[in-house]
Amino acid sequence: MGVEALPRTIWWDVDEVTGRPGVCLIDQTRLPLVGDILSCATADAVCTVIKSLAVRGAPALGVAAALALAVWSENESEGVDVDSYLDSLDEVATRVATARPTAVNLSWGAKRACAFAHHRAEQGADLVAIKADLVELAKRMCEEDEACNRRIGANGAALLDEGSNVLTHCNAGSLATAFYGTALGVVYSAFEQGRVAHVWVDETRPVNQGGRLTAWELGMAGVPATLICDDMAASVMQAGAVDAVVVGADRICANGDTANKIGTYGVAVLAHEHRIPFYIAAPLSTIDPALASGDAIVIERRDPREVEGMSVSGTITPQGDQVRALDLLTEKGPCELALKGGQPLVITRKGGGYTLDGWFRRTPIGVQVYNPAFDVTPSRYISGIITEVGVFRPDERGVYSLAHVHGERV
Ligand code: MRU
Repeated sequence: MGVEALPRTIWWDVDEVTGRPGVCLIDQTRLPLVGDILSCATADAVCTVIKSLAVRGAPALGVAAALALAVWSENESEGVDVDSYLDSLDEVATRVATARPTAVNLSWGAKRACAFAHHRAEQGADLVAIKADLVELAKRMCEEDEACNRRIGANGAALLDEGSNVLTHCNAGSLATAFYGTALGVVYSAFEQGRVAHVWVDETRPVNQGGRLTAWELGMAGVPATLICDDMAASVMQAGAVDAVVVGADRICANGDTANKIGTYGVAVLAHEHRIPFYIAAPLSTIDPALASGDAIVIERRDPREVEGMSVSGTITPQGDQVRALDLLTEKGPCELALKGGQPLVITRKGGGYTLDGWFRRTPIGVQVYNPAFDVTPSRYISGIITEVGVFRPDERGVYSLAHVHGERV
């Protein structure tokens, strides 16, 4: 037990049998009950797992973008001249950067990897060297992300009093980064110092990143935590049971307005009402100095089915005759059972076991749904923005000055 027991989120790997490189990641759509590893051998495959939320969370998306370009470069790029390679790399980077619109880290990671390849070409590197260096850059970005999160953790821990009760929303944990986490990085670091006693975990509808991922991570790390539905945050604050709120971010504007998982804005307003400090924990790569304020942030709209129902993934431990029945059902491959108004419930045999994946409708067929994935918290509700270089504070009007702050790009 302990934070070091957590799995890594995403990494570069080379298949021992085929020798083919791939981007490996833990499939977060199926956690916590199924811990499957996915391997992507193409940039499009990485875009698909980004869209499906198999890999998610702003810093993890930044790393995923660089890894996507590296895997394209190794497995898909054709031709021998540097100029056409760079032209194609730029096209792939645009595709990767736009796989999801809100987290700026995605385009940051893609731009950084592209700029690096162009820079190496300007230095006279040949194609073989550029490709090898791009892979090394992507791998280095995984390591840098972890180091950055540990610094965010240390900077944030210093803000918390001994034995604090912290509330968090969504998952800004190790799973949302290459390793360690931003908001949960603060929690992990503060817990080691005795500054965090307990964490309130917002479930985070509709996709339940809090209930599925944050609760799981904190349990693995041995941090005492209590899961609540999103609509319970107000009452635990009213009861005096929250000393600080710490959440992550997907895009922070020059004035401090911050996009994060839908529901964050409501938590910030509640914290303000109850005079509870509300902190954002994020790397400099999440700051978008080009956006003056939150009005300009593009908010991703997602599939209505996330609201209409619920995905489930689990493992089946059959008893007695059930084994024969499941073997029969799955002998020709995954078995799909049709659910009325839903997606198929799929039983898959893998190794010696069986997994179950499906989606259950919990609403009437045809109901109208609105499903924005993020909201924007105005800067005046944010007590401080915790980064790897320190804590930014607002001026007396509640406005931040971040126009000249940005993450390293090459
Ligand atoms: O839709 P998701 O799961 O990618 O949303 C993630 C969040 O909103 C996180 O809070 C944010 O990316 C910060 S992760 C350190």
